[in-house]
Amino acid sequence: MKQCKVTVFAKELSIRIRRVKGRNLHATTTIFLGLSLAFFVMVLGCFINNRAKKFLSSNEFYFPQLATFYPMSPSPSCSSSSAHSLRDWIAPMELSHSVSDEELMWRASMVPHMVNYPYNRTPKVAFMFLTRGRLPLALLWEKFFKGHEGFYSIYIHTSLELNNEPPESSVFYKRRIPSKPAEWGRATMMDAERRLLANALLDFSNERFVLLSETCIPLFNFTTIYSYLINSNKSFVGSFDDPRKMGRGRYNKRMWPTISLSDWRKGNQWFEVHRRLAVEIVSDVKYYHIFENHCKPPCYMDEHYLATLVTKTQPDMNSNRSITWVDWSRGGSHPTRFVGKDVSETFLNRVRDGFNCSYNGNATTVCFLFARKFEANTLEPLLRIAPTLLGFNP
Ligand SMILES: *[C@@H]1O[C@H](CO)[C@@H](O)[C@H](O)[C@H]1NC(C)=O
Ligand SMILES: *[C@@H]1O[C@H](CO)[C@@H](O)[C@H](O)[C@H]1NC(C)=O
Ligand SMILES: *[C@@H]1O[C@H](CO)[C@@H](O)[C@H](O)[C@H]1NC(C)=O
Ligand SMILES: *[C@@H]1O[C@H](CO)[C@@H](O)[C@H](O)[C@H]1NC(C)=O
Ligand SMILES: *[C@@H]1O[C@H](CO)[C@@H](O)[C@H](O)[C@H]1NC(C)=O
Repeated sequence: MKQCKVTVFAKELSIRIRRVKGRNLHATTTIFLGLSLAFFVMVLGCFINNRAKKFLSSNEFYFPQLATFYPMSPSPSCSSSSAHSLRDWIAPMELSHSVSDEELMWRASMVPHMVNYPYNRTPKVAFMFLTRGRLPLALLWEKFFKGHEGFYSIYIHTSLELNNEPPESSVFYKRRIPSKPAEWGRATMMDAERRLLANALLDFSNERFVLLSETCIPLFNFTTIYSYLINSNKSFVGSFDDPRKMGRGRYNKRMWPTISLSDWRKGNQWFEVHRRLAVEIVSDVKYYHIFENHCKPPCYMDEHYLATLVTKTQPDMNSNRSITWVDWSRGGSHPTRFVGKDVSETFLNRVRDGFNCSYNGNATTVCFLFARKFEANTLEPLLRIAPTLLGFNP
């Protein structure tokens, strides 16, 4: 671009020279002078441009988003640019970037128009960890993922600044996305979930997207969970009509007519969605702004926004049940937190196999793939029973 400007400037200059001396000098002399000036300026332009490029590429080291987000941008230079392969377009090489949320959502909302992929696409499950800090159960997850590379992607959104990266051998190594503080029950929590979805959508191989917290555990081995999700033709977003005060009572009449009381739903924050629904969620501005303005505590956006959005946009694509189990049986406003002594094979088997629901139109007792609210001290007993019960490779 710089070079183009320089060329235009050179042309202008040659015109001006011609105006001043035009009558006296022979026309060819003017043209010759102009052309040689233009040539000189062009060479100078190239030189400057190359210098600028060198400067930029040294910046790329610090701002890898330039390479990640604009792999296709043609470089208007005199020297040849490095060639990009399809690989650079279908998944970002680096998760770190500094694009704004608005820019990110826009990019993530892009959907290929062609039905078939021009490469061998193995669908992956994106495991999106929304955490407040560290992952105390990371070791359990490491064992869960071991040996299944190529079938999953991991994304971590953490509100806290964590300075140390896990070791290179860890599945969590360099899997953190640019994060912002997220407050429970507020729009910032929804923003964090959308940020996770958007980052995960940039990898075109991600087909299913599951949101997990630092207290979540898997209830089955990887292959079982993978095939359950990949083969399901519905998303798992908890969504029901709660007639009580803590359900319909949180509906705000100002949402009408875009959202009516009969559209209003409640559900568990911990969703699992298909790619089509993930795109719908990051693309939504219509419902999002209504919720942002009219669903504030005691209306908790993360309990109503997705449940209602799915009902409005893709009701037939949702199973309306969550895939993540949590225990509300002890009452109160918070679910049970499990500690080390609670963990046993009998207990986990009850969660793994003790419910009735439907899966692809068939009745099943396997209704939950993940469970929540496991304290850090459950790690040791969980690791002990994992090889036999969860079937992880020891
Ligand atoms: C995973 O679990 C299923 C069912 O429990 C079992 O059939 C399968 O062999 C296990 N897979 C691995 C890789 O352990
Ligand atoms: C889920 O809820 C929506 C909206 O109420 C409904 O249209 C759909 O049939 C429900 N799906 C299932 C599987 O029950
Ligand atoms: C699930 O269904 C079976 C058979 O219909 C029944 O015996 C069992 O009690 C049900 N379980 C629950 C948790 O509702
Ligand atoms: C997908 O869902 C429909 C009902 O919506 C069901 O009839 C069909 O069997 C499901 N497909 C598969 C592959 O299970
Ligand atoms: C139920 O599952 C069986 C075996 O997985 C399958 O053959 C059958 O088509 C399913 N039925 C429905 C109604 O989806």
